[in-house]
Amino acid sequence: MKSYDIAVIPGDGTGPEVIREAIKALEAAAAKHEFRLQFTHYDFGGDRFLRTGEALPDSALEELRRFPAILLGAIGHPEVKPGILEKGILLRIRFELEQYINLRPVKLYDERFCPLKGKKPEDIDFVVVRENNEGLYTGAGGLVFKGTPHEVAIQESVNTRRGVERCLRFAFDYARNRRARSPWKGLKPEEVAAGKKAQLTLCGKTNVLTYAFDLWERAFHEIGEADYPEVKRDYAHVDATTMWFVKNPEWFDVIVTDNMFGDIITDLGAMIQGGMGIAAGGNINPQGTSMFEPIGGSAPKYTGKGVINPLAAICAGQMMLEYLGEKEAAAAIERAVIGVVRNKLKDLAAGRMGYSTSEVGDLVAEAI
Ligand code: IPM
Ligand code: MN
Repeated sequence: MKSYDIAVIPGDGTGPEVIREAIKALEAAAAKHEFRLQFTHYDFGGDRFLRTGEALPDSALEELRRFPAILLGAIGHPEVKPGILEKGILLRIRFELEQYINLRPVKLYDERFCPLKGKKPEDIDFVVVRENNEGLYTGAGGLVFKGTPHEVAIQESVNTRRGVERCLRFAFDYARNRRARSPWKGLKPEEVAAGKKAQLTLCGKTNVLTYAFDLWERAFHEIGEADYPEVKRDYAHVDATTMWFVKNPEWFDVIVTDNMFGDIITDLGAMIQGGMGIAAGGNINPQGTSMFEPIGGSAPKYTGKGVINPLAAICAGQMMLEYLGEKEAAAAIERAVIGVVRNKLKDLAAGRMGYSTSEVGDLVAEAI
């Protein structure tokens, strides 16, 4: 029987309780589809940091590299200064394991949970490919004359041709394969007749960030024209993108963007798909170890109350199975999630689901 070794970092706050439900769903899918998952738990997070003074031991990275995938709950602790755990654990893993893609599907499962008037599941079904290793996140820059009246803060956006190109290529490949790969979004006959094809939108700010997005835009068209003629190329400024997310989300298929813009637009994306209770993402190294996570935070005030929606973590597990090549098991999880969202839950928000965290996990596992 096929077997996969998975590292699990439940992390802080409500991370452990949602990860428990994700594992429940993953085990149900594995049993049904005849493969095994071996989970190895790591206690990285705020509590360990407060105990040991170390966010992530160096040896951890070497250890994590041996797994095909990591499942992460949440990082963030009320007693630890903001930035320490985020940089020391989450960003460090993303960077050092070269998870250069942050893949964030935005998919509405039930019209009831969309805050936009009149938008239906078929209108909100796109994917954001966020560059995950560069941009404003590298930490390049610094403070000079700190604490004086003429203090200067510089935070630089790093965009390398190599980094941009590998991200764009991933996005083009993804756009080209998305419909074929996704059993839930086949083109409708009328769409085929209308000549609809895979579309990749570059989201940038070419009118102001004339160095960074000059590189992005040139690379986008060069690569697209040479290697992906079947993918329609489209461009939107980031500010306009947020406008279209609200007004015409049906225009999007796949969006590619830099690290900072991707961070911002995917929170908006999460809201239009029903909120943080359902939004998941994958930090992908196509040749190495990838890490899957619900994109909401550690929600410390809800810890242990059993009110957090575990579906985002379960969907992270689903993305992980898809990445591992267990497409049918992944599809089974998604079908189960859709069923639970449509037929059982009153709301997707914490405390308003009509079920506890573990009951939602049970419903999904039973449906699988
Ligand atoms: C996310 C988060 C992180 C980010 C933070 C916690 C560093 O907001 O995964 O989107 O900015 O990437
Ligand atoms: Mn974010």
